[in-house]
Amino acid sequence: MKGIVLAGGSGTRMYPLTFGTSKQLLGIYNKPVIYYPLSVLMLAGLRDILVISTPDSLPGLRNLLNDGSHIGLNITYAEQLEPRGIAEAFLIGADHVGDDPVALILGDNFFHGAGFPRILRACRDRLDGCVLFGYPVSDPERYGIGETDGNGALVSIEEKPLRPRSDNAITGLYFYDSDVVEIAKGLSPSERGELEITDVNQAYLKQGRAQLIRLGRGFTWLDTGTHDSLLAASQYVQVIEKRQGVRVACLEEIALRMGYIDADTCHRLGSGMKSSEYGRYLMEIAQTLG
Ligand code: G1P
Repeated sequence: MKGIVLAGGSGTRMYPLTFGTSKQLLGIYNKPVIYYPLSVLMLAGLRDILVISTPDSLPGLRNLLNDGSHIGLNITYAEQLEPRGIAEAFLIGADHVGDDPVALILGDNFFHGAGFPRILRACRDRLDGCVLFGYPVSDPERYGIGETDGNGALVSIEEKPLRPRSDNAITGLYFYDSDVVEIAKGLSPSERGELEITDVNQAYLKQGRAQLIRLGRGFTWLDTGTHDSLLAASQYVQVIEKRQGVRVACLEEIALRMGYIDADTCHRLGSGMKSSEYGRYLMEIAQTLG
């Protein structure tokens, strides 16, 4: 299965923070925003990852992640010239996807919860059509909304409905089989001029091949595209990390635990940034797990 991180958008909602940089390069507490969605794809076991972003933002993202080989990944890059919608990722990334299934994650989405790696691996291994994730929110009119019947089966999907039929927001993490590229090719732009991911999801729903997994109350999902949600995510990560002594979305640690890099490599990566607490943590876990 291939992975795509869509790190597009001009970040206008976050001006002036994003005049000089992209929102995915801002920080959530002690790491760049994009580490968090990238960690989700890694936890799903994906290693072949395309990062799509604007021409202005790509150089910074490349400086940060390079070709990914230092953490056992193969990261490539492609441009989205204009914000023409999430589903355009499958047109831009058609060659990358090829005949494989693919997981797409939005570059500003933050997920954290016990058992998540197990859920991700099950999605990857048992994919038939598409898998979406639902999360209860207090402002459903801001999101794609999935309505389910009494058995939890999806019955409707609507993009930013004025009168939402449920509070179940569809998060920015999507698993698709390889049909997704053909489906995306057949879409027309919506009223806001975008190729809507909701239209892709509706196509799968029509075929009876769309599944919604509800992420419940013990789970945290934030889209960090506003000043308040970015701050909320930072505070959340700070609380968990300080209290438990663990790190959320520590890419080198995940690579080590997944067996993509060895303890020596992890230690070397840490010692390259040992004046930061993050670097010292890498050296410590390399010793513990080595
Ligand atoms: C997009 C999708 C929406 C989804 C959301 C998740 O919204 O269109 O369906 O719920 O991402 O972050 P947008 O960021 O375009 O407002």
